Amino acid sequence: MHPFIQRVAHALALLCLVAAAPAHAHETLKLDAPKPNIAPTPPMGWNSWNKFACNVSEQLLRQQADAMAASGMKDAGYQYIVIDDCWQKSRDADGNIQADPERFPSGIKALADYIHSKGLKFGLYSDAGSLTCGGRPGSAGHEFQDARQYAKWGVDYLKYDWCNTGTRNAEAAYTIMAKALRESGRDIVLSICEWGNNQPERWAAPIGHLWRTTGDIYDAWEGQKDWSSGMTNILDMQVERSAAASPNAWNDPDMLEVGNGGMTTTEYESHFSLWAMLAAPLIAGNDLSKMDADTLRILTNKDVIAIDQDPLGKQGHRALKEGEIEVWVRPLQGGEFAAVLFNRGKAAADMKLSWDRLGLPADRKVDVKDLWSKKLTKNVSGSYASKVAPHGVVMVRITPVR
Ligand code: GLA
Repeated sequence: MHPFIQRVAHALALLCLVAAAPAHAHETLKLDAPKPNIAPTPPMGWNSWNKFACNVSEQLLRQQADAMAASGMKDAGYQYIVIDDCWQKSRDADGNIQADPERFPSGIKALADYIHSKGLKFGLYSDAGSLTCGGRPGSAGHEFQDARQYAKWGVDYLKYDWCNTGTRNAEAAYTIMAKALRESGRDIVLSICEWGNNQPERWAAPIGHLWRTTGDIYDAWEGQKDWSSGMTNILDMQVERSAAASPNAWNDPDMLEVGNGGMTTTEYESHFSLWAMLAAPLIAGNDLSKMDADTLRILTNKDVIAIDQDPLGKQGHRALKEGEIEVWVRPLQGGEFAAVLFNRGKAAADMKLSWDRLGLPADRKVDVKDLWSKKLTKNVSGSYASKVAPHGVVMVRITPVR
């Protein structure tokens, strides 16, 4: 069932349930083992969905792993290669999940071994319902069996979706999978994907390492299709959420569209900069084997990645919105800051970041590095002014002078 229809069905089912069942009538389970400390900074990697949807195969995955290792992506910090939906085909007589034998003839273990041999990590997708969003077998009722299988295969990351979950309670359902993963004998990142439907910021942090905050992104500057949203629409849905994020517990505004062709180079620079301000998982969603120079330059901008990966782990927030002009600010470790001057308008804008947005006194001297042009301006006080291209950003790192 399409996620949108599934969500409507879910809402209707919930309405019936409210009348029929006592509150909190759901599975409760305690997590004994602590959450493994394997995402102290937002995970970085690649996922098949945005570009390839159900068209996944072992050749594709090997090709993407090769490209991640050879292109400079791995050197820039990307490490997970994640197969999204449609790798699964069926369960055997004992309930063991089986990969599609035509698309993965060598099996998942061989693929995981190959990806590990490149010095990368391997991720898979499943779903807390009976079926995945793509109609493949989900993990409901098979959580422990599946987690043991993932561990045997060498899985390092699980994206766990929310289609076809009927009246399940999200916190309880994700707790079961978290427990299963923690008892599997292998450290596995848990990526919660219930689209922000059940206020995950209230319960997801002890359970998973990241949680989606919205429906799906699609490759456009703005817009709304069913339940998928363009980049700036997704951005607007993040504004109130920054406080919930911390190391090993990240808001996930969905994967990157950089390089997929639906936005301009300037718009992709904005997308990447803003995701870094959000401390978002940086999960590339393009074809890594066919990147043009701009795509690679954007995805491997080490200065921007360093903002995303700042060890303080505080998500940035929107400090100013005046019409089409926005200022985003993020505190960094050691008293530094990142800031983005964002121009949503169709004409270039003269913008200014004043120190009061950072909580600094006006006479405080700082060095300002522009993270796209690489220009360094030393000993600035009061404010920093710059022209910002239409649909563009100026992104800076601000270092108080000692
Ligand atoms: C949902 C998720 C997407 C993707 C698809 C796969 O829509 O939100 O990210 O995993 O399912 O079917």
